[in-house]
Amino acid sequence: MKILIKTADPLSLSTDCLIVFTTEKKPAGLAKSIDQSLNGALSTHIKAGRYKGDKNQTCLLDTRGALKADNVLFVGIGASEDACLETIRQATGTALRLAEKNRFKNPVLCYPENDLGKLSGAKNPDAAAPWQAMAEAAPLALFHFDEYKSREEKPADAPPRITSITLLSPEKKRENAIRKAADTGQALASAVILTRNLQWHPGNHATPQYLVSEAKKQAKSLKFSCKALGVREMEKLGMGSLLGVGQGSDNPPSLIVMEYNGGGKKDAPVAIVGKGITFDTGGISLKPGAGMDEMKYDMSGGAVTIGTLAAAARLKLKVNLVGIVAAAENMPSGRAIRPGDILKASNGKTIEVLNTDAEGRLVLADALVYAQRYKPKAVIDLATLTGACIVALGHQAAAVVGTDQQLIDRLLSAGAACGERLWQLPLYEEFEKSLKSDVADLKNISAPGVGGGTIVGGAFLKSFVGDFPWAHLDIAGTAWSGEDKPYVPKGGSGYGVRLLIEYLQSL
Ligand code: BES
Ligand code: MN
Ligand code: ZN
Repeated sequence: MKILIKTADPLSLSTDCLIVFTTEKKPAGLAKSIDQSLNGALSTHIKAGRYKGDKNQTCLLDTRGALKADNVLFVGIGASEDACLETIRQATGTALRLAEKNRFKNPVLCYPENDLGKLSGAKNPDAAAPWQAMAEAAPLALFHFDEYKSREEKPADAPPRITSITLLSPEKKRENAIRKAADTGQALASAVILTRNLQWHPGNHATPQYLVSEAKKQAKSLKFSCKALGVREMEKLGMGSLLGVGQGSDNPPSLIVMEYNGGGKKDAPVAIVGKGITFDTGGISLKPGAGMDEMKYDMSGGAVTIGTLAAAARLKLKVNLVGIVAAAENMPSGRAIRPGDILKASNGKTIEVLNTDAEGRLVLADALVYAQRYKPKAVIDLATLTGACIVALGHQAAAVVGTDQQLIDRLLSAGAACGERLWQLPLYEEFEKSLKSDVADLKNISAPGVGGGTIVGGAFLKSFVGDFPWAHLDIAGTAWSGEDKPYVPKGGSGYGVRLLIEYLQSL
């Protein structure tokens, strides 16, 4: 998507769609001037109760030649005291999706800073931040995944895609700062879109090998390093847990290891570890048929890991990062692991597999052990680990558990700042104890009565992280959006990339 920056008077700017942000207050400043030019058309809608400037409310007016712009699209941000960057991202997405539906081609976004009041406190780090928010939300809101639709099958009456937008700068001298902010926003969005595309691709296309080649492609073009350990190498390292999950599939598993070094030579890296199950049938503990297709997004943690390294490299973050993706396909077959099988992970621990559908923790175990060789200052793993997480939090927040409250607190505030929410669950020791096995060091599920499935998943992983500060994010609910949200269309959400970048920037 092309994002242009321009300084111009919105009242004398020609465009098919001028988008103007307003608060719930009576129109003032620009909104008032536009209203006057339109003979009170906006006031009419306000008086009739049709537009109040509530969050994500819109009012589309045809200017009938009264302005240079053909149409004005007002979008609400609610009470200015409550407005934050997330409000701007959502309003941007709402307005642009409506603009696209209405077949506008070159919308211009106008953020009338003087009329809107200051964005609330710490959530507004610098003066150009609202423009970063707009540039970030625009490509995300207008994202479509139609790689598999042949041209003839696309509905002929589908509105054309918006491929270019303009952001108005309030003053010529601020254009540079706004350009920079917009570039940052756009770089973030492109990494999120990379992640969303990986999530959308089906299991027959997005195999573990496909994740390897996509990671290598990103590494090459953005100049970070990437290697992939194959079955042979993983055998040498004793990664029996990851290999056990992979052995039922004809698509061999892989451990993808990426390194981005933007920090000091001696700085310990942050390790990001992602579950990359390219399809989860459940294995021999086969899942029910209904909805199984969704398990193509069981590699979301891995996709976020790749996206985060790409974003960090694009933004030239001054941190050292290691990204590890445990890529495998969970299939039932004559070679698949069975319930009762005992696997040995690369830290020597033995695992009794009581349910082959609890495979995410098995592949992560060896990936987490591998992360320890970097002596990381923090380990963050992301996984679509449990259906229980969706029961607890729906699609509204990811669950977080871990061993280091400072790390968790930083993640919680990064989530609040970027609009990707997290909710902490308690990692009580009872849950760890519930994983004691009669025959092995631990089992991969606890007894049915224990409950707390999301925490149990985390408790299992804890046995493989060593003494490093660690947080586990269960993104089963947030990785895939069941409905259209202002800047997250239905489907793969890319949840996690903006969160981790926000966290890394806070260090
Ligand atoms: N990938 C699933 C979890 C999942 C479910 C993610 C729905 C997204 C949407 C995971 O591998 C799994 O099957 N978990 C089991 C664990 C259970 C066997 C302890 C689950 O949640 O049922
Ligand atoms: Mn599973
Ligand atoms: Zn799974």
